[in-house]
Parts: sequence; structure tokens; C-alpha cells
Amino acid sequence: MKAITQDAYGGTEMLSYTDVPMPETGQDGVLVRVRAAGVDPSVWHIMTGEPRIARLALGPRRPRERVRGWDVAGVVEAVGPRVTEFKPGDEVFGTVPGSFAEFACAPAVKFQHKPVRLGFEQAAALPISGMTALTGLRDAGRIEAGQKVLIIGAAGGVGHLAVQLAKHFGTEVTGVCSGKSAEFVKELGADHIIDYTTETLTGRYDLILDMAGIRPLPQLRSLLTGTGALVLVGGEGGGRVFGALDRMLRATLLSAFTRQRLRALLALPAPETLHTLAELASAGAVAPCITRTYPLPEAAAAIDALATGHSRGKAVILVD
Ligand SMILES: NC(=O)c1ccc[n+]([C@@H]2O[C@H](COP(=O)([O-])OP(=O)(O)OC[C@H]3O[C@@H](n4cnc5c(N)ncnc54)[C@H](OP(=O)(O)O)[C@@H]3O)[C@@H](O)[C@H]2O)c1
Repeated sequence: MKAITQDAYGGTEMLSYTDVPMPETGQDGVLVRVRAAGVDPSVWHIMTGEPRIARLALGPRRPRERVRGWDVAGVVEAVGPRVTEFKPGDEVFGTVPGSFAEFACAPAVKFQHKPVRLGFEQAAALPISGMTALTGLRDAGRIEAGQKVLIIGAAGGVGHLAVQLAKHFGTEVTGVCSGKSAEFVKELGADHIIDYTTETLTGRYDLILDMAGIRPLPQLRSLLTGTGALVLVGGEGGGRVFGALDRMLRATLLSAFTRQRLRALLALPAPETLHTLAELASAGAVAPCITRTYPLPEAAAAIDALATGHSRGKAVILVD
């Protein structure tokens, strides 16, 4: 089968569109014929091996998993003998090691049935960004109806889902984005917009979800109520060795000495969270906006576009 592979860390020039063996289901696996694969910043981090501290987990010289991509939506081709939740022909979405391929395989717990409301493109865009938005708001942020919520990076992959979820939770949402995306964020349901390219961030918020990761902690804390919660999700501006880790550690330590809740998010795929997302999508509470699609051989272009840090909604790789 065809796949996007990589044999050393580096930029997209390290990626190849090549033939690899079909993955096998083993006892507990679900083999999926990939219809669409989501693109998100974790793909770039795994490809480059940056920040370098991540190589402790990813592999010292090259990613342990040769095929890139993580988010997936497709049709079940085969299941292992112990799998009871899915059967061939089921439409599913979830996370797999290596979704930029014609077929991908992972244990059954990594998948959910695809919500009928979502096409394959939308379903493939949901898992990582959606789980990040949901755990950031619900678990780290302890979001409650009636709160004022500030979403920094509201137009991006995580942010545009967070805006929808925060509205679903009954909050008043202010989205921070550049002017070109203001209308987009407004249409997602944001009550107020701050164009960070022309305005300074003002107001007091019960919860801030920060995807941009470049504003100093004191500035973000000054926008919080006395007992408000700041959830640090992203930021690509840190050093090549530790990335955003330094800022996240400082916030976590500081949290012990203040009534404000300062949290650094590490959103790992969890079956319960994916299940909740599937329910929310089925109910129409959240739906990814696909702003660009790429054929599988052009996956590198999708990653390069995302690396600019100014994406709107989600990009998806389409696999015939
Ligand atoms: N902690 C975790 O577990 C976790 C999980 C997923 C993602 N992340 C991280 O979260 C970050 C966002 O991910 P994503 O998928 O949403 O990325 P994305 O799709 O590339 O979106 C990034 C957004 O940030 C906005 N932005 C850029 N500079 C900004 C600034 N100075 N102020 C406000 N907004 C700004 C951009 O909006 P404009 O175009 O309007 O500038 C863009 O829409 C990344 O750093 C990613 O690595 C972390």
C-alpha cells in the first residue's frame, strides 16, 4: 500500500510517498481503509523531532513509527478475532500510528463509530484537536455555564472547536484571532472578537484557553478573575530543546501560590473523551470546519501550510 514515510528527523523534505507493507490486525486490532486523515501540529513535532526533549519518547534518531499522521476516518476492512465493537464495513474515526496511508491499524479502543452528521473529512479532523479543546475546557479549565471565556487562537484547529464547545457549555465567549478570521470565528458562535493584530487584550475572564502561547504569564493572569483558570495549550515559540515546556512548568509551579488555577495541558487520546466528542458531534454541538484538502501524495504541502501557525479551521488529507 502507499503511505507517507520518513526515515530521519527533519523538514517535509524527509517525507516520501512510497510503498509499505499492509499493517496487520493481530488479536485486538482494527484495520481501516483510510478515507481521510487530519493534519495537526503534532504531526510536525513528530516529523521534526522538536522540541528535542520529545525524542526521549519518539525515538532518538528517527520517529519509531515510520508512517506519519495520527487522526483518521475510514471504513473498517478487517478486525482481529478479539474485536467485538466493530465489523468490516463500519465507518469509524479515531487515532492511529500512521494515518497518512491507504490503510491504518490500531487497537479497537482507539476508534469510535463515525457520527452520521460528519463526513469522513470532518471526522478525520476531529480527534486530536477536538480532544484537546474538550479536555482543556472541561477537565483542566472546569468550565461552567455563565462563565466568561477567552479563547486565544480561536480560528485555529483547536481554537475553532473550543469556541463551539464553550458555547455549547453555556458560556460567553471572546475569541482572539487576526482580523481576516474575525467573521469565521463570529460565525462559530463567539460573542465577542479581539483582533490581536490591531487591539490589545482586555477584560476579565473566568477561563482562558491559550493556543498561541506567546504572551507572558503575568499578562494572561491580569486578564483572569481572582479565582479564574488559565489553561496553556500551545505555542511554538519556545526553544528547540524544551519548546513550550519551560513556560508550562513555570505556570504549574506558580499555581501552588495563587488562587488562580494555572494549568499546562497535555491532551492524550482517551477513549472516553473520543466517545464524548462523537456524542457531541452527533448532537450537532461541534463540527470541524475543513478549509483545505490535499491528496495523499501532497501531505508534505499540508504540513508546511500548517507550520506557518496561521491556519483557519482544519486541513485534511484525502485518500482515494
Ligand atoms: N497541549 C496539548 O496537548 C496540545 C494538543 C494539540 C495542540 N497543541 C498545540 O496548540 C497550538 C495550537 O494548535 P492548533 O492545531 O490550533 O494550531 P493551528 O491550527 O495552526 O492554529 C493556530 C492559530 O493560532 C493563531 N495565532 C497565531 N499567532 C497568534 C497570536 N499572536 N495571538 C493569537 N492567536 C494567534 C492563528 O490565528 P491567526 O491566523 O488569526 O493568526 C491560528 O489560527 C499548537 O502550538 C499545538 O502544538 C497542544
